[in-house]
Amino acid sequence: MKPSPSPHVKLSVKDFQNKMLAWYDVHARDLPWRESRDPYRVWVSEIMLQQTRVAAVIEHYHEFLRRFPTVNKLAAAREASVLAAWSGLGYYRRARMLHAAAKVVAREREGRFPKTADDWRTLPGVGRYTAAAVASIAFGEPVAVVDGNVERVLQRIAGRTISGEQIWQQAENLLDRNRPGDFNQAMMELGATVCMPRAPACLTCPLVELCATRGELAGAEKKSRPRKREIHYALDRRNGSVFLTKRPADIRLMAGMWELPEISRPEDYGEPFLTVKHSITVTDYTVHVWAVTAPLKGEWCAIDRLPRLALTGLARKILRKSGIIPASTTGVESSRSGGRRLSAR
Ligand code: ADE
Repeated sequence: MKPSPSPHVKLSVKDFQNKMLAWYDVHARDLPWRESRDPYRVWVSEIMLQQTRVAAVIEHYHEFLRRFPTVNKLAAAREASVLAAWSGLGYYRRARMLHAAAKVVAREREGRFPKTADDWRTLPGVGRYTAAAVASIAFGEPVAVVDGNVERVLQRIAGRTISGEQIWQQAENLLDRNRPGDFNQAMMELGATVCMPRAPACLTCPLVELCATRGELAGAEKKSRPRKREIHYALDRRNGSVFLTKRPADIRLMAGMWELPEISRPEDYGEPFLTVKHSITVTDYTVHVWAVTAPLKGEWCAIDRLPRLALTGLARKILRKSGIIPASTTGVESSRSGGRRLSAR
């Protein structure tokens, strides 16, 4: 028989905390942002980790900190440089807000970070989740975090859908107040690596005895299937330059960033030069790149300037796969392609 959830959990909060922390002490992934409690580093990592896979964050985190090692350096940077370093992480509004918040810290707070979650929330782009994550991890404030992973763990333990304020309250009730940063990370980690959305690994879960569900919660929201789309781009390279267009400044997604010009499928042109897969939010794109003369609207951009240009993640991927800019050193990109090297004309 399954344990009845709520009273059971309430009776064993200490047990719950001990199990979580003992598990985390052994199983915490060795992630670069866990090497220090420096609030700048913790904050950057938490912003990057929203809506982005850990592997992709690792790929960008070191380079971002190399370019902007302190909040003052970030505040002093041009927005285009910040966007260039963010290229590939997606959701560029996060980078703009991070930059805006760095300016507030540098100019209005003499480079000193807030220490409490409430104070963190006054900064641009810092919501309840980020404020609690940074305040607990970097400053040891006993405030609970709830992200999608924590929500799933708590719901499965309780054996029912809990939403809104109730889930934050439940997280707060369970929080270990001596090690809040580790406890919060343990909850997120468990959701990411054991209590996954599909096929949770209950046999290795430290909470299995306390859990009312032990598996997927019936009626839990199923992810809708991604939409599929085909798009075509022109890749025109001449005399050490490549032809790119700048996205309008007033567009919702990736405003002001550089990309290859989009074209309709060329007639009678055989096979594309390169095909890559790329996912943006809920759409899976099959991207065909054609080595054709570029359309009129755009600019020739010197290839040696490209690594510092605010390219969209897709443009950077195409330029890497084409051998025009160096390949990523970590090679975690998941796209498939059948590209040949494009010779200069
Ligand atoms: N997801 C977002 N931030 C995290 C963290 N610090 N640890 C584990 N998972 C996370």
